[in-house]
Amino acid sequence: KEVRFYDEIDSTNMEARRHAEAHESHGMVILAEQQNAGKGRRGRNWVSPKGTGIWMSLILKPEFAPEKASMLTLLGALAGAEAIKDCTGLDCRIKWPNDLVVNGKKVCGILTEMSSEIDYIHYVIIGMGINVNADFFPDDICHVATSLKLEGKQNYMRNQIAAKILFYLEKHYEKFCNYGDLRDFVKEYNLLLINRGKEVKIIDSNHTFTGEALGIDSEGRLLVKDAAGQITEVMSGEVSV
Ligand code: BTN
Repeated sequence: KEVRFYDEIDSTNMEARRHAEAHESHGMVILAEQQNAGKGRRGRNWVSPKGTGIWMSLILKPEFAPEKASMLTLLGALAGAEAIKDCTGLDCRIKWPNDLVVNGKKVCGILTEMSSEIDYIHYVIIGMGINVNADFFPDDICHVATSLKLEGKQNYMRNQIAAKILFYLEKHYEKFCNYGDLRDFVKEYNLLLINRGKEVKIIDSNHTFTGEALGIDSEGRLLVKDAAGQITEVMSGEVSV
């Protein structure tokens, strides 16, 4: 599969989109040393300085229905956590739906974007940003963000980690396509889930509520039990611990 590498780019997700619009690019990977307009979730920006992180986007052209695409993000999170564990020995966990954290601070974010029609996916882009060898973070985010180097007290090989993520993601993707759901991953994912058994506050577009996170189901929804014992399946949103 093709891997393209850029010294400097606006955003690997944007480049992936441009590429996917123009060519058949299933399986293509875009990597950059630096992003000038790195994008985060919810319209936030993603600080992507030169040489310290993995800024990577994968283009997929799945044949399943668009509503299944968000599950790919969870597979990305799982692959990322496994790869980081393998390559660094750090206890990397998942914060639902798709942040990776080490010692409670975020080391990786995932932004999945899709172009689709009602029942047809043109392409999906899974963008992953991993803080690998950063030595510091700006004051406004240093209490929530960290790097593998800051936690492991050593430099790590970015290419080794990136290759391992792609290795796991390809494996998971193929398995996922068998059933089109996460049945084969629920257990592994939930074992890594930092929110499990903890009280979570769900911040959705229309409302906010709290409860105990039980884990994800095979559709990737987070099951949250409220004080009355009622279980809500949360499709999307953000969790604050
Ligand atoms: C988040 O908000 O947690 C998601 C961050 C995703 C950042 C990555 S870096 C590579 C890819 N290109 C982008 O512009 N964003 C994603």
